Amino acid sequence: MPDMSSTTEISYADGKILQHTAGGVGVVTFNNPDKRNAMSLEMWEGFGEALTALRDDDAVRVVILRGAGGKAFVSGADISQFEKVRHNAAASEEYAKRSATQRALFADYPKPTIACIQGFCLGGGMQVAMLADIRIASHGSQFGIPAAKLGIAYGYDGLRHLVSLVGPSWARFLMYTGMRIDAAEALRIGLVERVFPEDLLWGEVMGVAETIAQNAPLAIKAARITIAQVLKDESGRDMDAIKAIGTACMDSADFREGRQAFMEKRTPQFQGK
Ligand code: COA
Repeated sequence: MPDMSSTTEISYADGKILQHTAGGVGVVTFNNPDKRNAMSLEMWEGFGEALTALRDDDAVRVVILRGAGGKAFVSGADISQFEKVRHNAAASEEYAKRSATQRALFADYPKPTIACIQGFCLGGGMQVAMLADIRIASHGSQFGIPAAKLGIAYGYDGLRHLVSLVGPSWARFLMYTGMRIDAAEALRIGLVERVFPEDLLWGEVMGVAETIAQNAPLAIKAARITIAQVLKDESGRDMDAIKAIGTACMDSADFREGRQAFMEKRTPQFQGK
């Protein structure tokens, strides 16, 4: 059983991104509650730094993203920056490049990730949540992509994930109307996996994270790599990568430990090798 005591919080982007660990669980907090955790470029960069630190911490086996303040996960990009940094196509491309670098880091993240969503999850916040492996939300959450209300073209990656989660019809509905949907509807259409009352949300998310943290890391990696390949076109699939992680997993000390622990009726202690 990993030690679940928390480390002190490390701050990025002037405290608007926070990071701490609790045993095998890393937590990144979007911390700009006055703006419903709207993401500035500095926050995107801080987010990337926090993710990198948790990626490089061998003790961390799973990462949770959450929003501070109880009212929002992330309310999208910080619109107040748009006039300066995103006012036309050229500026928008530069803006997208800087934030996309951090999202790419998250999209290819080598550890399982969970979005813990309480309150508004909008626009770029939806993009972050959709990039997470798993989404768990509170009853009062609301989801939407108001790009059509602002005149913004939502990019390829965001829409690819939206379509893969909810299908083309719901993707069109959400994009054409810019409407927000509630947690019950998000659950029904497959945008989130589980929904809990506000006061139970964090405990439930930590419970899932701790379960993942105690499971065999190589087996989880095998699932992550294989599912990512399943989502690619057949022509682009890297079957060798699937074979390699399968071999590493089945030859691992952890597989031996898993078998032995089962036979000895005890909890396995996995090392990730
Ligand atoms: N960018 C910049 N500021 C934002 C923001 C965003 N995406 N979302 C919220 N804020 C700011 C508001 O301007 C307001 O600032 P103020 O206190 O200085 O007036 C503050 O956060 C609180 O927002 P408010 O609208 O008063 O709170 P609410 O609880 O009634 O509504 C939202 C919250 C998120 C539904 C609403 O603020 C909203 O629609 N935001 C824009 C969402 C959006 O379009 N996102 C996509 C961006 S690409």
